[in-house]
Amino acid sequence: MKLAIDLGSSTTKIYCANAGNGIVLFEPSCVAVVDGEVKAVGKEAKKLIGKTTHQTQIIFPVYEGWIIDTRYAAEMLKKFFQKVGLSQMTLFRADVVFNIPCGISAMDFASYQMLAEEVGLRKVHFVEAPYLAATGAYARLEEGNPVFCIDAGGGVTNVAVLSPEGVIAGFSMNVGGNNIDAAIIDYMEAYKGLYIGSLTAERLKNELGSLSPNARISAVAEGCSVSTSLPSSTGVQSLELTPCITAYIDKILEYSKLVLNKLPAEVAANVNQSGVFLSGGLMKLPYVREYVASKLDMRAQVCEEPQFAIVRGGGALLRNKKTLQKIERKVDE
Ligand SMILES: Nc1ncnc2c1ncn2[C@@H]1O[C@H](COP(=O)(O)OP(=O)(O)OP(=O)(O)O)[C@@H](O)[C@H]1O
Ligand SMILES: [Mg+2]
Repeated sequence: MKLAIDLGSSTTKIYCANAGNGIVLFEPSCVAVVDGEVKAVGKEAKKLIGKTTHQTQIIFPVYEGWIIDTRYAAEMLKKFFQKVGLSQMTLFRADVVFNIPCGISAMDFASYQMLAEEVGLRKVHFVEAPYLAATGAYARLEEGNPVFCIDAGGGVTNVAVLSPEGVIAGFSMNVGGNNIDAAIIDYMEAYKGLYIGSLTAERLKNELGSLSPNARISAVAEGCSVSTSLPSSTGVQSLELTPCITAYIDKILEYSKLVLNKLPAEVAANVNQSGVFLSGGLMKLPYVREYVASKLDMRAQVCEEPQFAIVRGGGALLRNKKTLQKIERKVDE
């Protein structure tokens, strides 16, 4: 059994790289906990956000790329494995690619290793996100052809220029879709007089959010009136949300320019020709390709099913052991 696992801050994806398989699991990375006991995981847990009594806590055990709660991260993963019928024996023998953020410290890397062991995985190759994203984007990563990619998820954005031997320049930053959701909550409170929850904010971003100056979609947001504290609703237009979105996309692009500034001239010339590969859930925003291309002044390409680029890349690497051995993060680093 060959598995690729992407334990994201927002969603967990598992890809099975055996014949005929593909994405076998795609669920929110959260658990609902009552008195220290996990009552629900994934979709079932997420739909409870903001709707439970004080006894129930909704916990996202991975925050901005860090495993902040190993115990719940492990319980969640084990439940996900059960859900897709992966037995302990299968997991014990499985060949696994596990995604880790770009450039994480030895200590944070150790917490990923501990987690993998805790959930019963024995043959694990840890690979930094940009390699997986580039592979999943079908970028031609080969000698003399460096690849520039940006993967933006819920809590983290990884930016890197890669060569087959290593990261030429890159880092991960704690900016992602969650920041936009929070900005939408603030906007709705300040300008529309409506308190909304994070599920509503995320839905507004995903349904209305766009980087196009001509976006014309509208929706109704439900919540609680700021003035009367009673249930209330109001209409929202795409363009109203644009500043909440550009604030963070611009931040990502500003940092991306810092990465580009560090490149040796020949690599810069190459990147200028091949452009940037975009992946991660946030890159599902309409018009993001055009926006990034104009801000970075280079070609941009959103890869197919951007949210699954990392696990798809993991699957491809499991079929190419030579490359995998070269790029996996070594334990004694
Ligand atoms: N259609 C969409 N438009 C805009 N954003 C979207 C869309 N669909 C999903 N997202 C956002 O993408 C983010 C999740 O993406 P992804 O699954 O790549 O993140 P993750 O891997 O869990 O997190 P991270 O990599 O930051 O740890 C969420 O913020 C989600 O709201
Ligand atoms: Mg991710």
